[in-house]
Amino acid sequence: MRLVLLGAPGSGKGTQAEVLKAELGVPHISTGDLLRAAVKAGSPLGLKAKAVMEAGQLVSDDIVLAMLEERLAKPDAAAGFILDGYPRNVAQCEALEALLERIGQPLEIALKLDVPSELIVERIAGRAAAQGRKDDTPETVRERLRVYAEQTEPVAGHFAQIGKLKIVDGVGELAEVSRRIIAALPAQCRNARVNA
Ligand code: AP5
Ligand code: MG
Repeated sequence: MRLVLLGAPGSGKGTQAEVLKAELGVPHISTGDLLRAAVKAGSPLGLKAKAVMEAGQLVSDDIVLAMLEERLAKPDAAAGFILDGYPRNVAQCEALEALLERIGQPLEIALKLDVPSELIVERIAGRAAAQGRKDDTPETVRERLRVYAEQTEPVAGHFAQIGKLKIVDGVGELAEVSRRIIAALPAQCRNARVNA
């Protein structure tokens, strides 16, 4: 199963990927989580990324692609992956397609979680209170939503054009949203674990 999860900040990509990884037997790969780990570790990459992330902007395409390529080379990704937070602009989309072609792991489907912006603001405020993520301040959230609309929405358009996009309603109980996602997957993907 090779799946990209798309959706605005706070739409539930990370939450759903954590549920689906067990169901589908593939790792959850989040470029945001990888970057936050690098920031926490204080690595040179993390030092470069920190201010950009706290401003709600995108870290440079080269840095993120190198990080993703390294993660996809790990043995657990041989069975597939749930990609969360990548690709985030059209250039990353092209880079991803080239990379997956090169490693013989073409993408099967891109699935976008659709959640209205008022609910997104509410969800992120809840997470800010619970976890204190540095980029969950109201000002940075506004910028992240702006960057999403400007740079990431066209990625969904690209996947729609090549017939690989499914849109799923992301409003409702967690388990209900998971059921909708699984129902939207192509049959061979739903059965991947059973057939493995
Ligand atoms: P990233 O970590 O990817 O953040 P994001 O896309 O802004 O998304 P979030 O993690 O905020 O939301 P989510 O959709 O995962 O929602 P979640 O499940 O947590 O990126 C962060 C930054 O890193 C970027 O701004 C950028 O700087 C950098 N970056 C990352 N990738 C990059 C890339 N490819 N290129 C360049 N830069 C990159 O849910 C949100 C909240 O809602 C949670 O509290 C959750 O419990 C709750 N919730 C979830 N589902 C439900 C539900 N059904 N009902 C009620 N509550 C729910
Ligand atoms: Mg996330």
